[in-house]
Amino acid sequence: MSQLQGAAQLAQFEALLQPNDPTATLAAAAHAWPGAVVLSTSFSWEDQIITHLIAEANLPIGLFTLDTGRLFPETYSTWTATLEKYQLPITAYYPQADGLQSYVAANGPNAFYESVALRQQCCHIRKVEPLQRALAGKKVWITGIRAAHSPNRNDMHQLEWDATHQVVKYHPLLHWSTEQVTDFIQQHHIPANPLHQKGFVSIGCAPCTRAVQPGEDFRAGRWWWEDASKKECGLHVHSA
Ligand code: ADX
Ligand code: SF4
Repeated sequence: MSQLQGAAQLAQFEALLQPNDPTATLAAAAHAWPGAVVLSTSFSWEDQIITHLIAEANLPIGLFTLDTGRLFPETYSTWTATLEKYQLPITAYYPQADGLQSYVAANGPNAFYESVALRQQCCHIRKVEPLQRALAGKKVWITGIRAAHSPNRNDMHQLEWDATHQVVKYHPLLHWSTEQVTDFIQQHHIPANPLHQKGFVSIGCAPCTRAVQPGEDFRAGRWWWEDASKKECGLHVHSA
């Protein structure tokens, strides 16, 4: 798709956007691009809220997760609880076996601690490449990103054109506060990853995520041994 067609698709979505009504916006997108709207879920608080909205309104939006093979046991329990509560299919995408096997053979299972390059290579094999397969042929990619998660997410917009994956990204909870998120989870009895109660804010792979102290930046719990400017895994590359 050309840049012009991307801009046209973004404009089409902007006309449907109701910034304070995620359910109405999700419904309008599902109607406009049937079979081509998907939510990526890591079973975080935010992703669970969007899953809840999709399930409650019975919206024809696909759900997928990237199972890196290195997730926390608590994440797999939350995944199971989500399937039980909502009875929705969640498609899991896995790393290509050959690429992963060569990487581990050459570098060992925990090479991500050794250098930023090896860490990024691991993220590429376990997340970025599977994401490309998950988004192939799709038009809209919904995420649970919030501005409060990271300083470089502050100036993002709810909608953006992702030229890499040729989709419009929609972040329905971008401007929600942490209090809004936790209140909504409690009020609606949404299955939540128990790690959130233990100081984990943004939860990724087990060897690369730790709890943060009160007052610490949310992103401090991810790849904490690296320089702050490197702390993205390549899933979300935005121009802002
Ligand atoms: S990351 O860039 O650090 O890996 P983060 O944990 O902030 O991402 O999550 C932001 C959004 O990315 C989530 O709301 C979800 O939509 C998507 N995401 C992150 N990890 C995964 C995963 N393993 N599977 C599916 N989606 C994911
Ligand atoms: Fe690999 Fe860590 Fe990236 Fe997960 S977060 S894919 S374990 S480097």
